[in-house]
Amino acid sequence: MAERIEVLLSEEEVDKRIQEIGDQISRDYAGKQVHLVCVLKGGSFFMCELAKRITVPVSLDFMSVSSYGGDTKSSGVVKIVKDLDESLLNKHVLVVEDIVDSGRTLSYLLEMLKDRGPVDVKLCTLLDKPERRVVDVKVDYTGFEIPDEFVVGYGLDYDQKYRNLPYIGVVKFD
Ligand code: IMP
Ligand code: MG
Repeated sequence: MAERIEVLLSEEEVDKRIQEIGDQISRDYAGKQVHLVCVLKGGSFFMCELAKRITVPVSLDFMSVSSYGGDTKSSGVVKIVKDLDESLLNKHVLVVEDIVDSGRTLSYLLEMLKDRGPVDVKLCTLLDKPERRVVDVKVDYTGFEIPDEFVVGYGLDYDQKYRNLPYIGVVKFD
């Protein structure tokens, strides 16, 4: 099926907001080291841009969980595809996600990470679709709240395409 992409948030808007979140995180974690946990693959573009703008010491790790197939609807099934390389013991963990939708993936993930002995676990997401929430999740840093539409770009995909777009777009099927 052919689809077309409409710009929702321009590259400039996204970059400006990431700088603001980076500044906020640098203030909130002053005097500490923050351990960024990127949820692959979607969170990777956001995490790299965010990490460059954080001025306190940063360490990074990656994990991959899946709750989606090639479709645009959550299956509700969360499985760990790739676990973290490092321990979270005594770390200030900040999970970096592309989007919180139903909240199923994050609520599962956050509980699991909290059991690994970190000092604290917080959540930073580039996008949030609050209307779609099924499971309650506390989001500490949000880039943008967006309406209930399927978006791509800045790490987000539709059937593995469009992750490389430097802006956030809405997928239109017409
Ligand atoms: P949740 O468990 O429903 O919150 O699903 C979160 C995950 O679903 C995100 O990390 C994305 O990988 C994917 N997802 C949710 N909404 C979108 C969207 O609009 N575009 C692309 N991926 C999405
Ligand atoms: Mg994701």
